[in-house]
Order: sequence, then structure tokens, then C-alpha cells
Amino acid sequence: MLKDRTKIHDAPGKIGQKISIYGWVEDKRVVGGVAFLIIRDPTGKIQVTIKRDQNSELFALATDIPRQSTVKATGIVREFNNIIEIIPDSIKILSTAQHPLPIDPTGRTEASIHKLIQNRPLSLRIPEINAIFRLRSITKQVIREFFISKGYIEIDTPKIIATATEGGANLFEVDYFGRSAYLAQSPQLYKEQLTMGFDGVFEIAQFYRAEKSHTRRHLTEFTSVDLEVAYADYNDVMDILEELMKYVFSEVPKRGRAELEILQYKPPPPPKEVPRITYDEALDVVRAGGVDIEWGDDIDGDALDVLARKYPGFYFIVDWPWDSKPFYIRRKGRLSESFDLMIGRLELSSGGTREHIYEELKKNISEKGLNVESFEYHTRFYKYGMPPHAGFGLGLDRLMTVLAGRENIREVVLYPRDPETITP
Ligand code: 4AD
Ligand code: MG
Repeated sequence: MLKDRTKIHDAPGKIGQKISIYGWVEDKRVVGGVAFLIIRDPTGKIQVTIKRDQNSELFALATDIPRQSTVKATGIVREFNNIIEIIPDSIKILSTAQHPLPIDPTGRTEASIHKLIQNRPLSLRIPEINAIFRLRSITKQVIREFFISKGYIEIDTPKIIATATEGGANLFEVDYFGRSAYLAQSPQLYKEQLTMGFDGVFEIAQFYRAEKSHTRRHLTEFTSVDLEVAYADYNDVMDILEELMKYVFSEVPKRGRAELEILQYKPPPPPKEVPRITYDEALDVVRAGGVDIEWGDDIDGDALDVLARKYPGFYFIVDWPWDSKPFYIRRKGRLSESFDLMIGRLELSSGGTREHIYEELKKNISEKGLNVESFEYHTRFYKYGMPPHAGFGLGLDRLMTVLAGRENIREVVLYPRDPETITP
């Protein structure tokens, strides 16, 4: 099949030639003795015109084909009245679509997000939805390319683990042959360990958070872009993350121009420079904006609104209270060598310098109220010459909402998982 297939967007370059296209019947009109089929494939759409008095058998077949059925059409490409069309000498139905369809794949009748997700494969026939997931694929490629150009090693860490990494809450427990195991919340501890032998490691993978959040930016299964770099501190990895954002926000609009045109959306321009404000400075801004906030509080709700008004684009909030960060972050008195990358009110990434000194790391664990022994499987490597290191985790799904101009994280994930939904 593939050998004789012409992609529909290549058809206009083949006027006068006989080609075969494969696709689905998006629309069908019969005007007098002429049947018009609009055939679409992921690259475009084209009209197939059949006249009854030229081929009555084909005309009968065309008028009977249910919309959305998959077909192969073979015929001569021609241009008539500025319209490119195919005059077929054969049409083969490859698979028939049964009606009623659960959603309208032309997108003319709008369906709810829930219905689109429940019918995800069929929804990919809606050009906008198809474009979102092509853009996501482009974005992953651009990110991977950036890391590889830096010489970082792509790693794969386990998703079934024995101990929490981000603290005890939000863990999905699984029955592991009668023992308790958990779904990984992040590759955190493994990626840190691997800096013993690699200069830098990255992973793009799904992770799990048992959070009963019903927001437009939380999922229970999300994709994280993780980096960890040896002989680096948090300033170094903020530089890398800033460079990555510049690269992504300049490359993705170029390579995804067709997709963004379909979406009729222009992502924010690549940042020129990303301001780095301290947590303390952020509190000053919030208070000056008339919102009460105590030192040590997380910055959310109204406080974020105030901050986002002053910084509508990218900015870092650095030096968070140590109490608000996980045990592996390096402590700096009552502060920590940590950062969040924000765009407006959305947190895109968190990262920091890690504690690489064995005794200090154990002290951090016990100060967080965690059991030092249960982390021995991890901390023991810090006795054998662990390099200083730093890294970040970047939420790919959240990044995609910004790149594709979507409000809800569920729109940029093929099969989103939230507290209510684990199907399809
Ligand atoms: O801020 P988080 O929890 O940080 C970590 O996981 C650290 N291990 C990262 C590090 O290297 N220090 O998660 C990182 C990012 C968040 O900023 C957010 O973009 C995304 O992952 N994220 C989620 N996205 C969707 N749904 C969720 N439930 C998410 N939890 C985190
Ligand atoms: Mg965070």
C-alpha cells in the first residue's frame, strides 16, 4: 500500500498524473448527477469528483459510502475552476464507518473535552487536535536534540520503586507480589546517582502523583523532562534551562509553523533574558499588591495573580525557604539553593543544587521527618565520591499548554489521567 500512496498535500504537484490517495471520507455531496467526496489524510484534503454518466457504478458506490469510512482512490489529478480534484477510475472502501459516530470528526459540531478524550483516536481527525499532538512530538524532538547537542546521556529510570522521592504524600501504592511498592513521582534520586559516571543525564518520561487536584494544570500521570548535571550548581542549571526555553520557543514555532497555523495561535516569543527574583523579593511584590502572605508560605492563588501581573512572561523565583523544598535540595541556612521557573502564574519547572555530602544528606532526611535507614539504598553512594550536582524537572504537558495555546492540560495529553478518569 505504502509504495503507491501519494500524500494528499503532494497531489497538487501531480496534475495530469494518475495517483492513489488513502484517507477518510470527510464529506460527501451529490449535486444532480455528480458526487463530490472530500477525502482527508493527516496532510490535507482533496476533492474526488465522480460523474454518473461517466461511471455509474463508481457513482453509486460513492453516494453510498458512509462519512469517515477509510478509502483508497485512484485517478488522474486535474485542476478545474482553480480547484484541484481527482477523477477516479477506482475507489476501494478499506473500512466502513458505522453511524451514528460518537463525535463529529469534522469539528463542525463542537464536542466537550470529555467527549473528545473518550473518543481520542477519532478526534485526531479534527485538524486542530491533530495539530496539537504533532506539535507535541516536534517539541519533544527539539528538547531531545538540545540535550544531545550538549553531550548529555538519555537515561531510563524505573517507574516501580520502593521509596518516595518527593516526600511521602502523593504516592500511588501498588501490590508488588504481596509487598508494597510505589509508582515513581520523579526520577529524582536515580538521576542524581547517575551523575557519578556521566557529566549530564536527561529523561523524558511519565511519572505519577496521587494528587486529588482538579485543576487545569494537574494530572495524576504527567510527563516530566528531567535533567541532572555533574559539577554544576543551581545557577548553572538555570542558565541551561533558560537556554532550553530560548531554543524551544524559537525552534518549535519554526518547525511547527503549519501546526500553529491550523491552531491559529502564536506562542510567546523566546525570552531575551529571564529575570531571577528571590523568594523574599517575590513576597515584597505580593505584599505591595495588597495580598497578605507570611514568610514560608507557598506562593499561590491571589499571590500568584499579583506576581504574574508584574511578570507576565518567564521568570525564576530562587532561594525558597528550605522548609518548603524536598530533602535532596542543598540547604543555605533557612533558605535553599532552589528555583521555580514560572511563566505568568504557571509553574513550569522546579530545580536546584543537590546536597552531595553524605552526612549532610542524611541530616536533611531526618530533619524532614523521614526514615534515614529507608534511604540507605540511595545515600550509600554519597560515600563513594558523589560529585556536586544540580538539575531540574520540567512539566512537558504544562509546557505544551503554553506552546499550543490551550487552557486545559487535558487538551495536550492523548489519554489524560486525573482522579476521576482512567479510561479510555
Ligand atoms: O516541581 P516538581 O514536583 O519537582 C520535581 O519533581 C523535582 N524532582 C524536580 C527537580 O529536578 N528538582 O515537578 C516538576 C515539574 C513541575 O514544575 C510541573 O511543571 C510538573 O513537573 N508537574 C506536574 N504537571 C502536571 N501534573 C502534575 N501533577 C505535576 N506535578 C509536577
Ligand atoms: Mg515544583
